[in-house]
Amino acid sequence: MKGVILAGGSGTRLHPLTKITNKHLLPLYDKPVIFHAVEKLVNAGIDRIMIVLSPQYLDDFVSVLGSGQDFKSKNTGHQIQIVYGIQNEPRGVAEGLWLAKDFVGTESMVLHLGDNIIEDDISEDIASFKTGAKIFLKEVSDPERFGVATINEKKQVVEIIEKPKNPKTNLAVVGIYIYDNSVFKKMEGQPKSDRGEYEITWVNNRYIEEDELKSKNIQGAWFDVGNFDSLLNASNYMKEKSILKNKQATS
Ligand code: G1P
Repeated sequence: MKGVILAGGSGTRLHPLTKITNKHLLPLYDKPVIFHAVEKLVNAGIDRIMIVLSPQYLDDFVSVLGSGQDFKSKNTGHQIQIVYGIQNEPRGVAEGLWLAKDFVGTESMVLHLGDNIIEDDISEDIASFKTGAKIFLKEVSDPERFGVATINEKKQVVEIIEKPKNPKTNLAVVGIYIYDNSVFKKMEGQPKSDRGEYEITWVNNRYIEEDELKSKNIQGAWFDVGNFDSLLNASNYMKEKSILKNKQATS
C-alpha cells in the first residue's frame, strides 16, 4: 500500500500567511500542518509516500520533510521514504492522484489531502482493505463546503455531490480515501468540473456506479485548514489535546 499526500495549490484564502510558504507548511500549534497527514499514514504502516506539490515550494518541503528521516516505519523501525511529485497547476485532487500513478505502480493507495487533520484512527481500515474504494464521512454543519454523500436506507452511499448549493444531507466526505489500483483506469477520460478541476468526487461516483465503494463515519475531530478560522481552531484543539496528554502522563 502506497501513500499519496496532496499539498498543491497556492492557498490564496490564507494570504498573506501563504506568501511566506505553502499552507501545508504553516504551523498548526507545534508542528507543520502536513506532519499530521504524514504521521497518519506512517502510523497505519505505510512506508512509501509521495507528496504532490506546486513547483515553487519544493525547496521548502524538502527542508522540512527531506527524505522522511524524522519518521520511523512501523514495519521495519527504519526511516520511511518520502518522494515528491510536481503539480504545475492546481487542477484538482484527481489530477494530483493521477500524477502519482507511476509511483503507486500496481499497488493500492491511501490518498490524504494535506490540509485535512483527522483525529480518528483508520489504521484498521487500511490494514484490512482489499478491493474497491473506501471513503470516510463526517456530519458537519456546513456541508456545502465539501463533497456531500447521499445514503440509502442500508446506509450505503448512492451519490456524492461536490459542494452542492442545497445539500441533501450533512454528511461531508473527509479528505482521506483508500483506493485499489483500478482507480487509474476509472480516471481515464475524466472531464473537468464546472470549477475547472478534475474532481475526486467524480472518481468516487465511478466506484459507486460499479458498486465498489464502501464508507464509514469517522469519530473525533476533523479539520480542513483552508481558512484562518479552521487553522486557528485546529491549532487550539491540538494545544488542548497536548495539555491533556501531558497531564495524564504526569498524574
Ligand atoms: C476536497 C474534495 C471534497 C472534500 C474536501 C475535504 O475539496 O473535493 O469532496 O469534501 O476536499 O476537505 P477542496 O478542498 O478541493 O475544495
